[in-house]
Amino acid sequence: MLLNIFNKKTLSFQELFPDGFYDIHSHLLPGIDDGAKSLEDSIELIQLFRSVGIKNLTTTPHVLGEVWPNTPTIVNDKLDSVRKELLKNNITDINLNAAAEYMLDDVFMELLKDKNLLTIKDEFILVEFSYINHPENVFDIIFEIQTQGYKPILAHPERYNYFHNNRDMYLKLKQIGCYFQLNLLSLTDYYGTYVQKVAVHLLENNLIDFLGTDIHHKKHFSFLDKIGTKKNVRLLRPILRNNEILRNA
Ligand SMILES: [Fe+2]
Repeated sequence: MLLNIFNKKTLSFQELFPDGFYDIHSHLLPGIDDGAKSLEDSIELIQLFRSVGIKNLTTTPHVLGEVWPNTPTIVNDKLDSVRKELLKNNITDINLNAAAEYMLDDVFMELLKDKNLLTIKDEFILVEFSYINHPENVFDIIFEIQTQGYKPILAHPERYNYFHNNRDMYLKLKQIGCYFQLNLLSLTDYYGTYVQKVAVHLLENNLIDFLGTDIHHKKHFSFLDKIGTKKNVRLLRPILRNNEILRNA
């Protein structure tokens, strides 16, 4: 019985990432998307990140047509204000940078033409599809991104329901050089059991390159300690440190 309980032990987030985790996907800049609403909110979320050992963050506000028309200037101004607020609060051990999560829509194609995109590091950009359907000419778009010299990382491929029964699309996207970023919370039941199943499928097939929290608000943190089940630990082990190649000094 005792042995059984031991076997069932779920690792805490910090046990899962004993060297700390570098997060490349979150929504921490105040008032420019559906993440942090105020500067106080931003600081509170960053404090929660610290409490689970995450001190390196590249946060990624949405850039979505006219809904969230965030430019590099807007993002960098907000980043500055959060960095200043961190100092005011005597928080000096956080390495906070900012990029974006680009919805692949018509507005994005214009930004791409101008090569006016925020990268996580080097040429890597974080992109997302609509939850209703993927872009019609998705392969052409990925090719165009690459032609312009960028490397696309698709955010949370496991969350697009229209791929769940069309899993060949995952292979096709990978074959043309699209990188995949899994949401860690997808390995819990947070987004539902089907997303969880597909997350496992993607890891089992070695299709995931990077990991992210995609944290928008406080509630998300309570799920971080549910990720480290024995099965998940086995699946995550080979890629636990992959994000490091996207790390800014
Ligand atoms: Fe996101």
